[in-house]
Amino acid sequence: MSFVVVEDVWKSYKVGRVVQPALRGVSLSFDRGEFAAIVGPSGSGKSTLIHLIAGLDVPDKGRVIVGDVEVSSMGESARAAWRRRNVGIVFQFLHLVPVLTALENVVLPMELAGVPRGERRKHALDLLGFVGLEGKAGRLPAELSGGEQQRVAIARALAADPPLLLADEPTANLDSENKWRVVSLLREASRKGKTVIFTTHDLEVAEAADRIVRLSDGRVVEG
Ligand SMILES: Nc1ncnc2c1ncn2[C@@H]1O[C@H](COP(=O)(O)OP(=O)(O)OP(=O)(O)O)[C@@H](O)[C@H]1O
Ligand SMILES: [Mg+2]
Repeated sequence: MSFVVVEDVWKSYKVGRVVQPALRGVSLSFDRGEFAAIVGPSGSGKSTLIHLIAGLDVPDKGRVIVGDVEVSSMGESARAAWRRRNVGIVFQFLHLVPVLTALENVVLPMELAGVPRGERRKHALDLLGFVGLEGKAGRLPAELSGGEQQRVAIARALAADPPLLLADEPTANLDSENKWRVVSLLREASRKGKTVIFTTHDLEVAEAADRIVRLSDGRVVEG
């Protein structure tokens, strides 16, 4: 059975009096442990789709179901509570907390998800080890390179051990070495059973996924 189901989803944004369609009848499903890339031209709806699957926003029409939860019918606070336990998100433009160290950034989602205090630090250090940053746990984001920051963001997204990992352009702005490191971390997460869905403009990176979904003008044209 599919773990993520997107069912005839429509979404528009209002810009003043103009209605800008972003998704126009998208239906997709993803299995547990699937490693999928979403590609398509700029403005084709990739980020919008990631946001709706994450429950950061709701569709105008259609449904988003993750596991046995209909995310699209929940109110904002219920979605936020659900998200803390079920979704790890990595954004293109880093959202690390600048005044917290790498370690503290990774611990934060565990606090929110109710991981017992005694376990947080060790688990965060393990995750920083997983992304190759065991020696830099005490650094602030500004004291890390872009690639290192992106790896902290992945460790943070995995911190609450969510079954779903979503990443919007996780390899943009990275050099080739860090780009492939990020891809292999995402793949490793899917090997551990997480459903991993990411967007990219980089076709080489997309080819590394098990499946490529192509959007064009708010519709699925492939995958
Ligand atoms: N907050 C917003 N307000 C108004 N329009 C928006 C907003 N977010 C996205 N859009 C519009 O919705 C459409 C889809 O945007 P979206 O960000 O999902 O595309 P994308 O495929 O992620 O593009 P990119 O590759 O440039 O990141 C575009 O036409 C965009 O202009
Ligand atoms: Mg985008």
